[in-house]
Amino acid sequence: MKRAALEGVRVLDIATVIAAPWAAGIMADFGAEVIKVEMPGRGDTSRNLGPLKDGVSIRWPALGRNKKSITLDFHYEEGKKVFLELVKKCDVVIENFKTGTLDKWGIGVDVMRQVNPDIIVTHVTGYGQTGPNKNLAGLGMPLQAFSGMTYLCGYPDRPPVQGPPMPLADYVAGLYAVIGTMMALYHRDFLKGKAQEIDVSLYEGLFRMEESFVAQLDILGINKERTPVSSGASCPIGIFKTGDNQWMTLVCSTNPVFDHLCDAMERPDWLPKYAKAKDRLADPTPIMDAVTKWIGEQTWEEVKAKCDKAGVPVCKVMSMKDIFEDPQYAARNDILEVPCEEFGTIKMPGIFPVLTETPGEVKWAGPKLGSYNEDVYKNILGMTDEEIAGLKERKII
Ligand SMILES: CC(C)(COP(=O)(O)OP(=O)(O)OC[C@H]1O[C@@H](n2cnc3c(N)ncnc32)[C@H](O)[C@@H]1OP(=O)(O)O)[C@@H](O)C(=O)NCCC(=O)NCCS
Repeated sequence: MKRAALEGVRVLDIATVIAAPWAAGIMADFGAEVIKVEMPGRGDTSRNLGPLKDGVSIRWPALGRNKKSITLDFHYEEGKKVFLELVKKCDVVIENFKTGTLDKWGIGVDVMRQVNPDIIVTHVTGYGQTGPNKNLAGLGMPLQAFSGMTYLCGYPDRPPVQGPPMPLADYVAGLYAVIGTMMALYHRDFLKGKAQEIDVSLYEGLFRMEESFVAQLDILGINKERTPVSSGASCPIGIFKTGDNQWMTLVCSTNPVFDHLCDAMERPDWLPKYAKAKDRLADPTPIMDAVTKWIGEQTWEEVKAKCDKAGVPVCKVMSMKDIFEDPQYAARNDILEVPCEEFGTIKMPGIFPVLTETPGEVKWAGPKLGSYNEDVYKNILGMTDEEIAGLKERKII
């Protein structure tokens, strides 16, 4: 039997909400053993995040998938001792308490290092571990604003909008947390380097994607204002309405794609003047008007057939219902139906990226709070039934 890509990596996920636990979840998808530590009695906030069905979160099954939930309260001295015992047995700790909280509790990185010098610690915070904002609380939406991204979303003559109606900063930070953790594991285990900390903020992942606007202010002196699509770089570009009232997107990011569009639209006359992006961008209105009219006079299927044949990338603006019915999603197993105690089964996004030799697997949906206490405390820490019962009685687990 093939081994999972991350077999043998044990992660202690002491994080809450979305960003950092989501990062640990991605590692769990690829076979890392992720032990999720939660507050006794109440668990991770994400267990209660809406949307809800009959008061039960429908997000938790995907957010908590493949993890082993245990309970442990860090406020108690005994809880801290148990935490350090777990640190001894793990490769990685992923945490997202405010900067300084673990130190305040006496279980910061220095203390973890005393019991396990090889422990890799991944921190996710609003603003990072340094700088004047380091101690501030952070959530995705305000940190997206700090990243500059909210300023850019919407129409120039209207108030800014969030953009996608979801905490994008959290998910992007989660990806950076995985990237950083994987690099630290490679550096520690393959290059035999020192174990290190990974300092992820909620804003820097988004800011990293704004590279063209950084250059725009620096080199051109232009403070990028909001636009509904990424105009200024490509022409034509937009979200267009077809003759049968479907929304679709089209962009010619490269000159060959524009060449193909001229084929699809039977407009070879455009090529002498507009073959180069800089010439199209200097005079975008005639092209944008003609493309809008061309699309508006045909059905979506007609536009798609012509564009597919010519090699112009287009797509209908898909709703979740469209996605559920789409053969591409189906062929790639992009939606999984997973057994789940609360709802019988529940659909969730599949596992990405697709690894050809060791694809990930959803073994179970988000587990019940503390359902792996016995497994972890007995099998990993070697505790007896009496010791576990005692911790439970004293509300430490
Ligand atoms: C999310 C956030 C705003 C919450 O802030 P907060 O709860 O006020 O403060 P801390 O981060 O210091 O966390 C301490 C709290 O963790 C909770 N907690 C969670 N798991 C715990 C555990 N196993 N043991 C003890 N306390 C635990 C307790 O409620 C504790 O508060 P208390 O000591 O007052 O009882 C903050 O953690 C933060 O900014 N995190 C970084 C950014 C981030 O990841 N945000 C979420 C993005 S999805």
